[in-house]
Amino acid sequence: MNTREMFAKAVDGGYAIPAFNFNNMEQLQAIIKACAETKSPVILQVSSGARKYANQTLLRYMAEGAVEYAKELGWEHPQICLHLDHGDTFELCKSCVDFGFSSVMIDGSSLPYEENIALTKKVVEYAHQYDVTVEAELGVLAGVEDDVVAEESHYTKPEEVIDFATRSGCDSLAISIGTSHGAYKFKPEQCTRDPQTGRLVPPPLAFDVLAEIEKKLPGFPIVLHGSSSVPQEYVDIINANGGNMPDAVGVPEDQLRKAAKSAVCKINIDSDSRLAFTAAVRKVLAEKPGEFDPRKYCGPARDEMVKLYKHKIIEVLGSDGKAE
Ligand code: G3H
Ligand code: 13P
Ligand code: ZN
Repeated sequence: MNTREMFAKAVDGGYAIPAFNFNNMEQLQAIIKACAETKSPVILQVSSGARKYANQTLLRYMAEGAVEYAKELGWEHPQICLHLDHGDTFELCKSCVDFGFSSVMIDGSSLPYEENIALTKKVVEYAHQYDVTVEAELGVLAGVEDDVVAEESHYTKPEEVIDFATRSGCDSLAISIGTSHGAYKFKPEQCTRDPQTGRLVPPPLAFDVLAEIEKKLPGFPIVLHGSSSVPQEYVDIINANGGNMPDAVGVPEDQLRKAAKSAVCKINIDSDSRLAFTAAVRKVLAEKPGEFDPRKYCGPARDEMVKLYKHKIIEVLGSDGKAE
């Protein structure tokens, strides 16, 4: 299904739909199992990197298989959307529409404003002919290399959102309010340190900007990218078993919970799944150096991801029970 109905219900209900990236069978199995067990609608996201890694034809049929797998798990009416994450050209979006995706993102956020509108509009005009919904992005998510001042100036400008949404015709809008991609979302100098644990405490998201955007576009679906929380227990397991991820830090879950209760109706999580997977694999291989059957470490990794996804659905997004 596309995102239209999912988002309308999520905005009304004060929860957010999980958008989980997948690149392999174990991630997809874990997502579907977690969603079937919690009856949560879900957006399966495929990035360009995933297409290159796993082959787009295979991913598309895996997603189709996932619907049948969900039913087999006892989820009678699965609500699953297949979505292109961070499409950067019209051609890529078109190819995903033609290939049966139910939703695409055109990410023109690095383009000048008018070019972003023109590109988004072109994708919308094509996608809507096939009832495929389109996510756009306005404002630039901070990169870890940017300095604090540059990050602030890249927040989405609330005064632009009405014009952007109206002229582009997009169905949902990804905004920048302080999240960023990856496992190092804030530099140590942007954070304070908890004196007891020595861990970094990140600065809050710009909820004032979010509130301004909501005021300009009441009820319009808003999307948050870069919403992994970088659970410290996974970072600790990784570091204790041969890894090296100093000062990895994410968005605290209470902030995401707060965002999910507002117009934010899609929350993108990828890095946390990578961390869960890596922590479990490192642990098994460190404890059993003779192990060489991938099922023996990918299996525990899959179990850990199921736990993570269920936690996100129930404790953070509030989407459990919304797809009975
Ligand atoms: O937003 C980016 C997603 O986490 C996908 O990452 O391009 O490495 O697949 P990727
Ligand atoms: P994270 O890196 O925070 O998981 O963000 C994922 C994302 O935004 C995918 O589009
Ligand atoms: Zn993203």
